[in-house]
Amino acid sequence: MAARGLAAMIVAIPVVRFLVFPLKHRETGGEFIRVAELSSLRNDRPVRVVVVSDRRDAYTHFPPGPIGSVWLIPPGVGANPADATQEIRCLQTICPHLGCGTNYVPDRGTFACPCHASDFDLSGRRLEGPSARDLDELECRVSEPDTNGRRWIEVKFEKFQTGLATKRAVT
Ligand code: FES
Repeated sequence: MAARGLAAMIVAIPVVRFLVFPLKHRETGGEFIRVAELSSLRNDRPVRVVVVSDRRDAYTHFPPGPIGSVWLIPPGVGANPADATQEIRCLQTICPHLGCGTNYVPDRGTFACPCHASDFDLSGRRLEGPSARDLDELECRVSEPDTNGRRWIEVKFEKFQTGLATKRAVT
């Protein structure tokens, strides 16, 4: 009887742990992730950078790998002067319509989606196409200098549900 109870407890522990601590991915966890050295940022156009992070769920820790990409917009670059801030801005590269990756089109100075032709200005504002919302903005910051004097751009990377007019994080 005691052995049966012990066996039930052994089985129950991981189940309870999974329910209490469900799949936890750092890409939706709101931690700042280092994405690029500040000196690598161009001052005249957006740069796409790959976000690399480790992930973990209730049982497994996955080694670092690509989890997405972001647009880094240098200070002073915007679709019109009113949109140009003195801060680095960060946008998701994923089109909010159905999730295709956007491309930067230098001739137009816009982000274009190749799937259904949504188009966004450099502040992420939707100009045309079926996307129901603007490109999703992400929180970013510049780090203090590290031991080698290098400063880094760090992004709170998140993914958002597509096909919605409002921004809702993927959980
Ligand atoms: Fe971008 Fe449809 S996925 S316009």
